[in-house]
Amino acid sequence: MALKPTLPCAVFLLVCLINIISSSSPLTNGASKTNPMKPPRLAVTLIHPDSIRSPYYNRNASSYDLVERAIDGSIARIRSLSKRVAVPNDYSFRAGLIADIRGVAFLVKISVGTPPAPQLLLIDTGSDLFWFQCVPCISCFKQSLPLFDPAKSSSYSNIRCNSAACTLSTRECDRDKGYCTYNYTYVDGSGTRGNLASENVTFETSDEGTMVIPIRVVGCGHENSGSVDGQLTGILGLSYHPYLSLIQQVGSKFSICIGDIHDPQYQYNQLVLGDDSVLEGDSTTLDVYGGHYYVNLQGISVGDTRLKIDPEAFKRAPSGQGGVVLDSGSGLTWLRGDGYVPLQNEVRRLLEPRLRRAKYGHDVEFLCYVGTVQTDLQRFPVVTFHLEDGAELVLDIDNMFFQVKPNMFCMTVVQSDLKLQGLSLIGVLAQQYHNIGYDISQKKLFIQRIDCDLLDRDSAFS
Ligand SMILES: *[C@@H]1O[C@H](CO)[C@@H](O)[C@H](O)[C@H]1NC(C)=O
Ligand SMILES: *[C@@H]1O[C@H](CO)[C@@H](O)[C@H](O)[C@H]1NC(C)=O
Ligand SMILES: *[C@@H]1O[C@H](CO)[C@@H](O)[C@H](O)[C@H]1NC(C)=O
Repeated sequence: MALKPTLPCAVFLLVCLINIISSSSPLTNGASKTNPMKPPRLAVTLIHPDSIRSPYYNRNASSYDLVERAIDGSIARIRSLSKRVAVPNDYSFRAGLIADIRGVAFLVKISVGTPPAPQLLLIDTGSDLFWFQCVPCISCFKQSLPLFDPAKSSSYSNIRCNSAACTLSTRECDRDKGYCTYNYTYVDGSGTRGNLASENVTFETSDEGTMVIPIRVVGCGHENSGSVDGQLTGILGLSYHPYLSLIQQVGSKFSICIGDIHDPQYQYNQLVLGDDSVLEGDSTTLDVYGGHYYVNLQGISVGDTRLKIDPEAFKRAPSGQGGVVLDSGSGLTWLRGDGYVPLQNEVRRLLEPRLRRAKYGHDVEFLCYVGTVQTDLQRFPVVTFHLEDGAELVLDIDNMFFQVKPNMFCMTVVQSDLKLQGLSLIGVLAQQYHNIGYDISQKKLFIQRIDCDLLDRDSAFS
């Protein structure tokens, strides 16, 4: 794909951008496939930080320690998101969040360069750039894998200031060197600075082969800071940018399947990128604002009872207030008060004749009970989130409740308070046992309740 700066590009940036987006399909023209008969899926295993495949796995930590940390991570997540959405839909506001590694942020292994240099990346749904630490390091955080050295990769190429790729990305320039640069400050104060480059990226595919995809914009980070502890090599941003996000570059489609996140042995959580994304099940309208993925939540039922919730409760205002973001960086689900209170009341009405309330001390107010999810909620009905166009996110007891102590469980849905801009968020615990497909160009989100290991079997035997 030619990306020479042309006058029309400079003048009619928007038109140019649309042209480039619609003409780009790196998956179809650049991919080297391991099996010419049956194209493998571009599927990346999502490694939960507390699972046995994670370098952060600590066999000594009790599941209750992990729950505690996941809650802290969820709080950090909604706080930073709510700060971000408070600004209008402007792609120039790109600061994201280095999701706290202690939260529910997944890790992926992807290699970059030729020959491929392995990276361990944190998936961040709050930012859009895919970057990794790069030599020369002015300041880098510690990592266990070797630092990526652009000089040793034959497919690496810096993006020049005066190129269309720079104009469409950050428009920032190191005048001395003539390189296009980026400077991302994350909400927690950490950040990354470096230059933009194009580079070949090697993914492992569902058939255990590899696939090399030329990526036209990655960040080569020379000055990086962050509250990470010696394993990560960079961040893979999953939010959307019309030019520089990896999601856009692989075809503006992806799907995420998450299974049981409490089970450290579970290994089928996966992210599929591009045309092979799993876009199955009911669909609903997907809106992207500021790179975040919004759904139109129209109501909630508990069993057959449709709760009385003002239909406006979950609408996003043009000012950026409110709305419902689908997010894989927060464990918990956050609902604005006028949506949360009717749900809480209904759950209490069903449970309180039998169960005793319990108090789980935390910054967030949880609805908790004495007992266990497995024994005390056997007949609890499913909770359905009704989305536009009839799609439903159906939550069973393992989505709705979690065990926080041996004899105490809480609801995974909490109230989003006023300081959080009226923002609601559907988190990872609610998304468990679902495959969620994002088709950004078609503005559609697909939801299917499924065991993620079935997706692997499909691709192996179909
Ligand atoms: C787990 O506990 C054992 C025994 O107490 C200790 O030797 C080990 O360092 C601990 N591991 C971690 C990762 O904390
Ligand atoms: C980068 O990937 C493309 C597509 O697979 C391939 O044609 C090209 O040769 C690769 N570059 C290098 C230097 O290996
Ligand atoms: C990078 O961004 C931060 C925050 O916006 C700013 O303080 C800093 O000066 C910027 N650095 C450069 C080199 O532009």
